[in-house]
Amino acid sequence: MRKPIIAGNWKMYKTPKESLAFLESFLPLVKGHDRDEIILFPTMTSLAAVLEVVAGTNVRAGAQNMHWLNEGAYTGETSPTMLTAIGCRQVLLGHSEQRMYFNETFERVNLKLKAAISHGMDAMVCVGELLAEREAMQTEEVLRTQVRAALHNITASEAQRLVIAYEPIWAIGTGATATPEMAAEAHEMIRKELAHCCGSQTAQETRILYGGSVKPENINTLMAQEQIDGVLVGGASLVPESFARIVRYE
Ligand code: PGA
Repeated sequence: MRKPIIAGNWKMYKTPKESLAFLESFLPLVKGHDRDEIILFPTMTSLAAVLEVVAGTNVRAGAQNMHWLNEGAYTGETSPTMLTAIGCRQVLLGHSEQRMYFNETFERVNLKLKAAISHGMDAMVCVGELLAEREAMQTEEVLRTQVRAALHNITASEAQRLVIAYEPIWAIGTGATATPEMAAEAHEMIRKELAHCCGSQTAQETRILYGGSVKPENINTLMAQEQIDGVLVGGASLVPESFARIVRYE
């Protein structure tokens, strides 16, 4: 019922030329693959070129962030109308690196989510706890607060455009993956909160991805968990063969 999503977050890597070289190798490796949705999040300077090349294929591309307004005096920002004008219908919101290094807040993520939905874009909202919060047994409370803030005033029909990525901060880029059981347990918590915010049908239909040191070596066990509806991959999505191997999990 929930079609899995395998998404690659390229962070601040790859020039347009490097992005196109990636696609040249990657697209043939996943040609015809329709068991899962495949999404790439390149940098802003590569996005238009990537969108052009993936048009008509089974791969989609989106932005790593955006502003919530259509235009204005906001130096350094990109708006939803600018993204949709280049054919971009996907956006990643609230990534922990934005929260940690650029003071992103869930209140702003909420504004961005509403803007994405009103522009007909699909949004992937990242949530996840710090190691200290997990050790203090605060994971459930942290996830609840994050999901509630991000989904404030979002209706069940609006939530159809929403995907949640559970990315425990201590597992991002560290090589430390949550065990499949830990991830499944956190996904349960998030689903419970989704039911609280948008009703049980939305909770059942919304895809919740896991992210944090996903690799070809651990993808099979992660995807074997019923609660895990896909993955958001950083480092291992930069190399065509390794990302294709992840897409073709068993
Ligand atoms: P990682 O990053 O796979 O390199 O841990 C995941 C992410 O930040 O989305």
